[in-house]
Amino acid sequence: MASPGQKVVLITGCSSGIGLRIAVRLAKDEMQRYHVIATMRDLNSQHKLVEAAGDTYRKTLFVAELDICSDESVKQCVNGIKDRHVDVLINNAGIGLVGPVESIPMDEMNKVFETNFYGTVRMIKEVIPEMKKRRDGCIIVVSSVMGLQGVAFNEIYAASKFAIEGFCEGLSVQLLKFNIRLSMMEPGPVRTEFELKMIKGMKEKEWPGVDSNTVRYFRKNYLPTAVDIFEVLGQSPDDIAKCAKNVIEASSPHFHNLTNPLYSPILALKYADETGGLSVRAFYHMLFNLGPVTNISIAVLKFLTFGWLRNRSIAPK
Ligand SMILES: NC(=O)c1ccc[n+]([C@@H]2O[C@H](COP(=O)([O-])OP(=O)(O)OC[C@H]3O[C@@H](n4cnc5c(N)ncnc54)[C@H](OP(=O)(O)O)[C@@H]3O)[C@@H](O)[C@H]2O)c1
Repeated sequence: MASPGQKVVLITGCSSGIGLRIAVRLAKDEMQRYHVIATMRDLNSQHKLVEAAGDTYRKTLFVAELDICSDESVKQCVNGIKDRHVDVLINNAGIGLVGPVESIPMDEMNKVFETNFYGTVRMIKEVIPEMKKRRDGCIIVVSSVMGLQGVAFNEIYAASKFAIEGFCEGLSVQLLKFNIRLSMMEPGPVRTEFELKMIKGMKEKEWPGVDSNTVRYFRKNYLPTAVDIFEVLGQSPDDIAKCAKNVIEASSPHFHNLTNPLYSPILALKYADETGGLSVRAFYHMLFNLGPVTNISIAVLKFLTFGWLRNRSIAPK
């Protein structure tokens, strides 16, 4: 049970990556202001979290089971919290999907929407009645820059994040009337298992039903650039955790929170031209005409920045 004055924070997807780091950062708060309920769909995967939590485990950090794709699991978890009282909900759980769209079965696409969109909606639906009664609450959704800018070969993932951005943009207005603050976090690449899960085996993978040119563009233009971008521009999950803590502690948090300022120019391009032509053409050139130049630029950046850029912390204050 939370001690008086502590905020109850419920986080989804804490078995690894960003969710794990947010949970541990909040649990280690010097003033012990947070009672963290770090959830995951399979409790057998809790060892990394428990190890990272150290002596905060079972003091300020508690582990619970929660599968965001199951009504029953979500209800059971929230019902298990005293008075169903959640001060802060952090929707972090998510899955990726990459590849030529012609080859992706509809049920794989559904799974991405079931998790990234409906899973997040299910969580928000479950906690807002009590937050509305108390006229207080904070909800954070870990979206992505791909929730604001579509990226080739990531169409379904981006669509699921665009969907949750649209849902939250509307809902945030209504929730403000109840003093519930809803904020999106839009990381660029983050070096977690997410990237490994998505890119693993992609080079060798067969793409039935896809023409040879598209497969070649995917393998030769997209994949090497994507891997390099993760390596050079990727933030650490701790950078994102720091940003999440800042959002929770802000008196008037922003709705959008781009965690990586290097991505701001890409979005500026999009909003500078309401016809959309500028950003579509810029991405086209990057993928099909500047492939080798982009790779060389990234290689130079890699060389110049060495470890410094990779270890930097640039999450907004
Ligand atoms: N890494 C990036 O480059 C990046 C960039 C922008 C945004 N994001 C977003 O950041 C969030 C966290 O990703 P990450 O990078 O930390 O990846 P990760 O290490 O793969 O973590 C994803 C977490 O979500 C959990 N999860 C998946 N489906 C779930 C379900 N149905 N119910 C409950 N938990 C579920 C996973 O649990 P299991 O261990 O059981 O699979 C895992 O704990 C995602 O929403 C992702 O879209 C990531």
